[in-house]
Amino acid sequence: MTHRIETIAAHAGRAEKSPGQPVTPSISLSTTFFLAEPGQQEGHAYGRLSNPSRNGLERTLAALEGGASAAVFSSGCAAMHAVLQLLEPGHHLVACGDIYGGTYRLIERLVRPSGVDVDWVDMRAIDEVEQAMRPTTKMLWVETPTNPLLRIFDIAALCELAEGRGTTCVVDGTFATPILQRPLELGADIVVHSMSKYLNGHSDVVAGAVVARSSELSDRIRFIQQAGGAVLSPFDSYLVARGIKTLPLRMARHSESAQALAEWLVEQPQVLEVHYPGLPSHPEHALASKQMHGFGGMLSFELGGGLRGATEVLGRVRVFSVAESLGGVESLIGQPALMSHASMPKEFREARGVRDGLVRVSVGLEALEDLREDLARALQAS
Ligand SMILES: Cc1ncc(COP(=O)(O)O)c(C=O)c1O
Repeated sequence: MTHRIETIAAHAGRAEKSPGQPVTPSISLSTTFFLAEPGQQEGHAYGRLSNPSRNGLERTLAALEGGASAAVFSSGCAAMHAVLQLLEPGHHLVACGDIYGGTYRLIERLVRPSGVDVDWVDMRAIDEVEQAMRPTTKMLWVETPTNPLLRIFDIAALCELAEGRGTTCVVDGTFATPILQRPLELGADIVVHSMSKYLNGHSDVVAGAVVARSSELSDRIRFIQQAGGAVLSPFDSYLVARGIKTLPLRMARHSESAQALAEWLVEQPQVLEVHYPGLPSHPEHALASKQMHGFGGMLSFELGGGLRGATEVLGRVRVFSVAESLGGVESLIGQPALMSHASMPKEFREARGVRDGLVRVSVGLEALEDLREDLARALQAS
């Protein structure tokens, strides 16, 4: 029986229902498991290969995304690295230029030097993506909504381009989570998540996930996970599963508060531009309304005073915390140029609209009025 997404989330990490078994699964810490005889493996054998706590979380993620199976990793970057290892020397990767700084670094510093050709493309223009594609293009890397400009790319249209050419279409859905966007249903082959963000939701686990649509791709990712070994620990798997139980409620509240703050920020004279897909003025608002089930808790806005102006505003917040990361219950605020995107060359990021005065906000679950008053106070003196 297939259940609705809220039900899948509420039962996250749970094993089969059977009398006498715990409703909340125990954390399975053993690294090794009894074998019937040498070389004969039934069920679990060794913790890098499989583990009951990790497998419970993986089953939940596969169900949430509608994939054949999921593999969870020790960070979002480890999950993305596993997917990028599907590429071989001579292959070509087309990736979106407005992207998390760490993904840019991973591709430029680890993937390109391994002999993979890379093109960074503005994926809002489908014809530009098509022009960039070559017979050797084996992967399209799509992050949507993007970090930090909240651009939205048309997953279905991009996947249509990839289909039939032997090109794997990968979507980083970290900002949306499967509650707001299900890329596999739109034709993507693989979804990746930094679960350090919304999926865990409490800023106390670093974790990543890969969910593949086909069992063939799932098997290849599983091999990379087991051989490469960047697996998620049983305790962290338990914590992420626990976080997922409230994910639908959290995403609804994050989205509601972010929408209200974005609408308020638009009215502030110090703010030059607000990037939030829920605003009718957002260039891809119509696409986001079609592709997503809500607009999420992330927004960014531009201030006029460059790096210093933005740093001064951040210095005055009291309810928001100036900190890396996003997607937790508490509101965070940051300056991409100095933080999440510091590893991206200034010319590269500025050419894509990530300017020094940009401020990125992860809207948490605090009272909206407290958040609004905090931002109002911080902006006042600027
Ligand atoms: C969109 C996106 N993808 C991937 C990552 C990497 O995840 P992690 O920090 O868990 O390695 C991040 C981290 O901020 C991110 O924002």
